[in-house]
Amino acid sequence: MSREVIKIRGGSTLSGEVEISGAKNSAVALIPASLMAAEGEVVLEGLPEISDVNTLMSLLNDLNIRTELDGTVLKINADKAENMPLPNTKVQSLRASYYMMGAMLARFKKCVIGLPGGCPIGPRPIDQHIKGFEALGAKVTNEHGAMYLEAEELKGAKIFFDVVSVGATINMMIAASGAKGQTILENVAKEPEIVDVASLLNSMGADIRGAGTDSIKINGVEKLHGTTHSIIPDRIEAGTYMIVGAAAGEDYTVRNIIPTHMESLISKLQELGVRIETGDDFVKMTKPAKYSPVSVKTQVYPGFATDLQQPMTPLLFMANGVSKVTETIYPARFRHIDELSRMDGKIEQKSGSALIFPSNLKGADVYASDLRAGACLLISGLIAEGVTTIHNVNHIDRGYTDIVKKLQTLGADIWREEISDH
Ligand code: EPU
Repeated sequence: MSREVIKIRGGSTLSGEVEISGAKNSAVALIPASLMAAEGEVVLEGLPEISDVNTLMSLLNDLNIRTELDGTVLKINADKAENMPLPNTKVQSLRASYYMMGAMLARFKKCVIGLPGGCPIGPRPIDQHIKGFEALGAKVTNEHGAMYLEAEELKGAKIFFDVVSVGATINMMIAASGAKGQTILENVAKEPEIVDVASLLNSMGADIRGAGTDSIKINGVEKLHGTTHSIIPDRIEAGTYMIVGAAAGEDYTVRNIIPTHMESLISKLQELGVRIETGDDFVKMTKPAKYSPVSVKTQVYPGFATDLQQPMTPLLFMANGVSKVTETIYPARFRHIDELSRMDGKIEQKSGSALIFPSNLKGADVYASDLRAGACLLISGLIAEGVTTIHNVNHIDRGYTDIVKKLQTLGADIWREEISDH
């Protein structure tokens, strides 16, 4: 059997422009939400070209929903949608399949679906989603690895979340749009992806107010309809390329971003010593001659994103002192550490945090355990001496559009290769 790896010869200085694609974590909610249009076509523009998009399209097809993907534009026609059980491996391949629960419940009042999978970054419960569905009047059971959700009628409710959750906030906006009466969500997440999903739903005829603040009000509506929606840029992809620029960039520009989404990262990179110029929809940067050590603590938006914690780590090996990373959202999101050790990165893990010591990384064979660990290894390979081979690249392709091509355009010595297992 052969499989693909990504190889990188480190040490190149990168320059030029990179264009950021649409946001993965928005796309994976917008696609399921589109199935709620009982009439007319939903057109999603600017989608990222990643495998999660194809998996969700295929789940919609299982419900007799027509999808047509042309580059970054996806047309979805759910006029003839039929409710079918989805207890299959496709569901388990991505976390975001939990949005099918909210959307199917709103449209059909019933959903049978496998348990959502996703990146192995520690425990990822969905109790807040279930609490929300139950508050809206659904009966939720879990049998033989599948979830059964059913409601005679969904009724608006007041829901106070026990933890701030991106997924639960979005799922309740979706489900409550199909409920009778008003739903009030308190202690919600404020990530830009939540605002993006609310804006799609509103242009489909929903009535959602307050997305992006601590409290969201949703007035349920009879029916949703088709619309055209342009997705926001991916702030995590943007952040990943900004970290690349901070590590190896000279006259280096990251385009198609919303700079206000990047503030916590920009200020951390400036603290490290990186010079950044911010424009309307771009940042320009050049790597500094020396980097100061920093402390990074992940927090809900607008704090430092957990999804950038692993990509940020390689940069900290370049500092002239000890840096610290504290992970408060997923305290076990440290599976990249063993791989960095293979590259001679000196790093010590304590519960929920890691100390990063100045190190010169060396190329090695390393394994991506999850999407953002994969990004971390790519960045490590770009700054390491010699050749790094990254295995399990399917994780990376789940979330980054054309990452090898984009890095090649910036001048990186990176390529894909088929290797045989024997
Ligand atoms: N949590 C619960 N119960 C729940 C839901 C969440 O205890 O019912 C906890 C989680 O265990 C975690 C915290 O709440 O400790 C926050 O989790 P959240 O629900 O916000 O995460 P998510 O919605 O499942 C999304 C992104 C993740 C990103 C997190 C945090 C998608 C599909 N995934 O996950 O993205 O890390 O928000 O920002 O939107 C990635 O892109 O690599 C990725 C993992």
